[in-house]
Amino acid sequence: MLIVTAGKGGAGKTTTAVTFAVMAYDSGKRVGFLDADNQNSASEWLQEAEPAITLRTVPWDLELKQKIRLIDRELKTLLAHHDVVFADAAGGFSDESLSLILQAQLLLIPFEANLLDLRTTAKAIDFLKKARRINNSRRYRQACLIVNKLDTRRTRTIAELDRLVPNLSEPVAETRIRFLNPLPEAVKQSTVVSRGKQRRWQGAATDFRRLYHEIAERFAPDLLSSERHGRAA
Ligand SMILES: Nc1ncnc2c1ncn2[C@@H]1O[C@H](COP(=O)(O)OP(=O)(O)O)[C@@H](O)[C@H]1O
Ligand SMILES: [Mg+2]
Repeated sequence: MLIVTAGKGGAGKTTTAVTFAVMAYDSGKRVGFLDADNQNSASEWLQEAEPAITLRTVPWDLELKQKIRLIDRELKTLLAHHDVVFADAAGGFSDESLSLILQAQLLLIPFEANLLDLRTTAKAIDFLKKARRINNSRRYRQACLIVNKLDTRRTRTIAELDRLVPNLSEPVAETRIRFLNPLPEAVKQSTVVSRGKQRRWQGAATDFRRLYHEIAERFAPDLLSSERHGRAA
């Protein structure tokens, strides 16, 4: 199955995609990864965090048409040889990321826990719905929004989220990812928080494990643990 992270820059696409990819690998899945973001930040991180995950990178300096063709080709091969393929889309919902987004079986859309980002994201969903109607041959199957970087002391933000989230036209994960200082540390150490043994990382690891299991149960049973490849964690 193809799981694509999309949305605004800085919202947590790369963090979610790389962490989930390593978690899927650690639960025994054959995992492929397509880095279609211009900054290729996922590639650098993932290469060192888990070299056994098949990584394909889309060069940033291709023309749009070539890029779309390359993405299609890479996805086909990756999907043929892996249980689950993660793709990190370019930021925003431009033409550049649209063809990738529309091929997703599951679209994960993180957004920062504030009103401005919630509004931007709500607009983006409307845009996606339209794109879905126009483009008949390709359509993403389902999407799930993810609240990220939540400051749990901001009770007003939380109240507003609680009020607005039920009105969104796409499902929102019940698990909210808090603002977690270990995340940038994990990148620096070329790993993901779910693999960290240090006590300070456990809260971050818990948020991501919860989110992973919720997403798996609601949308992506392919992510659930199996012994098939003899590497189950
Ligand atoms: N929940 C979080 N708490 C703290 N920092 C975060 C969180 N999620 C992401 N970050 C940090 O925010 C920055 C942007 O995240 P990233 O995943 O690269 O976003 P995107 O790929 O959408 O641009 C990175 O430095 C990342 O470590
Ligand atoms: Mg990114």
